[in-house]
Amino acid sequence: MMTNQSDVRKIIVTGGAGFIGSALIRHLISHTDYHVLNFDKLTYAGNLSSLKEVESNPRYSFVRGDICDRAAVENVLTGFQPDGVMHLAAESHVDRSIDGPAEFLNTNILGTGNLLECSREYWQQLSAERKACFRFQHISTDEVYGSLGDDGLFLETTPYSPRSPYSASKAASDHLVSAWFHTFGLPVLITNCSNNYGPYHFPEKLIPLIILNALDGKKLPVYGKGDNIRDWLYVDDHAKALHLVLEKGVPGETYNVGGNNERTNLEVVETICNVLDELAPLQRLEGLHNYRDLITFVADRPGHDKRYAIDATKLRTQLGWMPEENFDSGIRKTVQWYLDNKWWWQPIREQKYSGKRLGGKKQ
Ligand code: NAD
Ligand code: DAU
Repeated sequence: MMTNQSDVRKIIVTGGAGFIGSALIRHLISHTDYHVLNFDKLTYAGNLSSLKEVESNPRYSFVRGDICDRAAVENVLTGFQPDGVMHLAAESHVDRSIDGPAEFLNTNILGTGNLLECSREYWQQLSAERKACFRFQHISTDEVYGSLGDDGLFLETTPYSPRSPYSASKAASDHLVSAWFHTFGLPVLITNCSNNYGPYHFPEKLIPLIILNALDGKKLPVYGKGDNIRDWLYVDDHAKALHLVLEKGVPGETYNVGGNNERTNLEVVETICNVLDELAPLQRLEGLHNYRDLITFVADRPGHDKRYAIDATKLRTQLGWMPEENFDSGIRKTVQWYLDNKWWWQPIREQKYSGKRLGGKKQ
């Protein structure tokens, strides 16, 4: 248990240039007095422009580095002297894990193992008081629990049953984190969250891909019949949950994070089309009446998990978390953000990823 919460002041965030990591850093800088060091390799998914609003804040700093690099991780720990590590760095896209699993095994498993070992060595030489306050928080996914049928929800006690290279690598990392708690006493926290969406989301993922393809008048690819179900959470609600768990979570415990917003993929795509019809009506595309006319059903994802749905009762009742956005309010904000922030996504679409199908074939 944290003995002196005011001691948690210096935090390393790994993967802070990514979608959720940048939302977390923006939240921590604007809502706390923490000093935050962002440790990120800047892979294709890392983007420092997502941190524009905090980059000149004296409580924010950035170090480019790889969590697999032992010397780099040791240097940043001893140099910054953190009171906690919030670990988000990962390869995060299921489709890319089908095309090339190796980097997922490397970063998500070996990288997490390296980060844990370096953190343990650092933590062991802290004073007793700082040792008691230190936290290693691992940010994970509901995909470790596998695929649900029509009924039921994922609980913290649901047995692990990962089915993609991505989710298997995240499950392995969760097990490593748990082992470092049981074996070495490192004060760890694990959160398993459902699908996030919101601003600064890399447009390989369903929601930003659909928004940007629609604005470009391109086809809107829906895998299979579009009847797979995901449970959507606005990214800022996730960031608030992570902060709460860091401050109030009990070491060794897992907390599920999710906002009860189950939707089929087709419902998600149609909702985006409806919002776009209202906010940016089609003007220039011949033969199209509305954005829904761009929807195209394409070959399914291999091993496509049918349904995810989170029971976040523990986080709500034990720590008092409540999401602020529901899907309708969050998706409207998100679509508006993409309409207003072409400066952020246009270079990505032109230089990094233009929207081609990933993970389509069984290897
Ligand atoms: P993302 O792909 O947007 O960002 C990942 C970040 O990690 C990038 O900035 C990248 O440069 C960095 N990174 C990758 N490999 C690295 C390495 N070896 N060393 C240092 N940095 C490295 O991912 P995201 O969607 O923001 O997800 C963040 C975390 O949250 C991941 O661990 C993911 O598994 C988890 N998660 C994501 C979701 C979701 O819906 N996106 C839901 C639940 C959990
Ligand atoms: O559940 C949490 C997970 O959510 C996170 O751990 C992952 O990091 C994150 O990427 C996300 O995984 P998904 O595979 O659910 O997200 P994605 O946006 O890739 O796909 C969402 C759903 O939409 C999924 O059922 C596949 C489908 N899809 C996806 C794309 C990219 C389509 O139908 N068409 C598409 O073009």
